[in-house]
Amino acid sequence: MDRTHLVDEITGHRRMRRNRKADWTRRLVQENRLTVDDLIWPIFIVPGTGIVDPIAAMPGVNRMSVDKAVEAVKEAAGLGIPAIATFPDIEMELRDETGSNSLVANNLINQATAAFKKAVPNIGIVTDVALDPFTSHGHDGILRNGVIVNDETVDQIVRAAVMQADAGADIIAPSEMMDGRIGAIRRGLDAAGHQDVGIMSYATKFSSGFYGPYREAINTSGLLKGDKNSYYISPANGTEALRDAALDVEEGADMLMVKPGIAYLDICWRIKEAFGLPVFAYQVSGEYTQIKAAAMNGWIDGDRIMMETLLCFKRAGCDGILSYFAMDVAKKLAKNG
Ligand code: PBG
Repeated sequence: MDRTHLVDEITGHRRMRRNRKADWTRRLVQENRLTVDDLIWPIFIVPGTGIVDPIAAMPGVNRMSVDKAVEAVKEAAGLGIPAIATFPDIEMELRDETGSNSLVANNLINQATAAFKKAVPNIGIVTDVALDPFTSHGHDGILRNGVIVNDETVDQIVRAAVMQADAGADIIAPSEMMDGRIGAIRRGLDAAGHQDVGIMSYATKFSSGFYGPYREAINTSGLLKGDKNSYYISPANGTEALRDAALDVEEGADMLMVKPGIAYLDICWRIKEAFGLPVFAYQVSGEYTQIKAAAMNGWIDGDRIMMETLLCFKRAGCDGILSYFAMDVAKKLAKNG
């Protein structure tokens, strides 16, 4: 039997494998590429000096005191990583009902920013203004009678954002999903002379189980009462997410973020198509941990899946990715030339 003939009858002249036949054809037709320029590295900061404290639920990720973080950020800049995103794990005694430490000019996050700016001026610094690292209840906003109050929270995060910009933050990334925050932050920054400080909106932040290890990292998991469903978006809702992003665009966001990442690639794509703004995915703690845990058990090829997931964000329309793998990826890309 002439098998070639049979296949030819079905495929005609269409043979997809011709473009896949060799390394050189595959390189030639490759549509998307991951480069070091696509990476934002999230890091956790703790008070003190000389501290590099492993996070149990995120193997390979550490909480670092500012001095140690400066060394790490220098290394990141040396590898060509364009930006970092910082999250503080502050002392429990400093956390209170309203997250008042967020309004202390030289709080941990602002100390870290100032230190990075001084030691590593050529790396971008992205800071979150959500209140969860600062509140005694682990919520992102101010809690009054069991309700996260919107406008009062916005008022506070605007002031916190200005202080972060004063300390040297380049991009303010508000993750607390309060209504009207982008416009309010923009006005606050401009009024304080920070016209060049950008806003990366966590435009579509979903109420997700993938944040679990992060809450361990900044020690909010034991504090959190209830859930965040009254301000984060339900994983069931795509159109609502688009509407939320549209408001942020109107209010002046410079960049949009989708969070979590890999389970929300449809949202990345829809947002990129709809608005054309730079779109970033946050490959969050639970996504990182899943890959690490399976790899540590020898059940998957961790390196391969790290590269594959990040490339898939690019294919889904993302301009970049916040990832705890950023340093590993940058090293791998540097080695492979
Ligand atoms: C809260 C915040 C979260 C993350 C960063 N800032 C989510 C949360 O705790 O509800 C998650 C990041 C991650 O999981 O890597 N403002």
